[in-house]
Amino acid sequence: MKTFFVAALATALLTGTALADTIKVGVIGPFSGPFALQGKNFQAGIQAYQALNGDSVGDHKVEIVYRDVPQADPAQSAALAQELVVKEGVQYLAGFYFTPDAMAAAPLLEQANVPMVIFNAATSAIVTKSPYVVRTSFTTWQTSAPMAKVAKAKGIEKVITVVSDYGPGVDAETAFKTTFEGEGGTVVETIRMPLSTNDFSPIMQRVKDSGAQAVFAFLPSGPTTLGFVKSYNENGLKDAGVTLLAPGDLTQESDLPALGDSALGLLTTFHYAVSHDSPENKAFVEAAGKAIGNPAELSFPAIGAFDGMHVIYKMIEATGGKQDAKAAVDAVKGLTWTSPRGPVEIDPETRHITQNIYLREVEKTADGTYINKEIQTFEKQGDPGLAAAK
Ligand code: PHB
Repeated sequence: MKTFFVAALATALLTGTALADTIKVGVIGPFSGPFALQGKNFQAGIQAYQALNGDSVGDHKVEIVYRDVPQADPAQSAALAQELVVKEGVQYLAGFYFTPDAMAAAPLLEQANVPMVIFNAATSAIVTKSPYVVRTSFTTWQTSAPMAKVAKAKGIEKVITVVSDYGPGVDAETAFKTTFEGEGGTVVETIRMPLSTNDFSPIMQRVKDSGAQAVFAFLPSGPTTLGFVKSYNENGLKDAGVTLLAPGDLTQESDLPALGDSALGLLTTFHYAVSHDSPENKAFVEAAGKAIGNPAELSFPAIGAFDGMHVIYKMIEATGGKQDAKAAVDAVKGLTWTSPRGPVEIDPETRHITQNIYLREVEKTADGTYINKEIQTFEKQGDPGLAAAK
């Protein structure tokens, strides 16, 4: 055994090949607390990827080390990222559900020689915080701008916007307002609410009073989005004919059973629907459904994680397992593949994912399942928010 090891080491040194080893990937996300289901979807995406593609790249076993940040908490995220790099020796950082958590960890990357692959956080500017950030999710600019076009095409002229008052909410508001006004529509009022808001009745009253024909809304997916859509129904806005327009964060599949028939007909724009019709998605949903246990809990953070693992595997392959963040990131610039969501590319300039954005409508299938049915495609959307972020 010992002689074999010495011989292998000598061969590796002579030929320059890396020894078989374990490469650790540190994944930060909400694995407990109110957003635990979102973190569970990160895990399901990772496990689905490894079930379909193996847990090794060449001779390198890929091991995932999880760290829990239950709610947006930049200080805790930075501390855990540091711990993962210094104590655990992770070669990659990944995950990051909330924007502030990704922003706080980004400044560590260059010195640590570690790439960060973002599975969710959706504020455009994050990729500008370090050359080692790559994102496989979406931005709220990317998902919200098409909704403004849909609204105008549907004959809506006056809209009020309601967003959570932090990065992705401000981006969603700007994206919607800029695009909608560019199309000739009017945003009559913009409301920003604290991330902690969970009583939406006063906001619904303001929406009613504004006289807008539609409300455009963004909140981070979780208990708050479910509460917001319920409040929209319960406060009579739906009955009053005020249309709810939103990116798909507001109708994630895992929330649809709780919303029931009241969600039918809701229009959202997003990069991924669990019902997306393709062989790649069929294989993904089967594997991720098995990983999560209850397939009704599957939602979009799983696809960010699944494709994020694809990017990390490509990085490991390109660097032969050596720790070289620049080479790893350079290797995936311009990478294209067929994701379960459709065709995608890592934009070589921005390191953000270019993808189709779909208009979807909540429907009930013959077996009583609620789905986001894709009814229109905006092809090959980059991130229009980056120009605004610079
Ligand atoms: C974010 O904090 O960037 C974020 C979180 C949840 C979402 C979208 C964006 O659904």
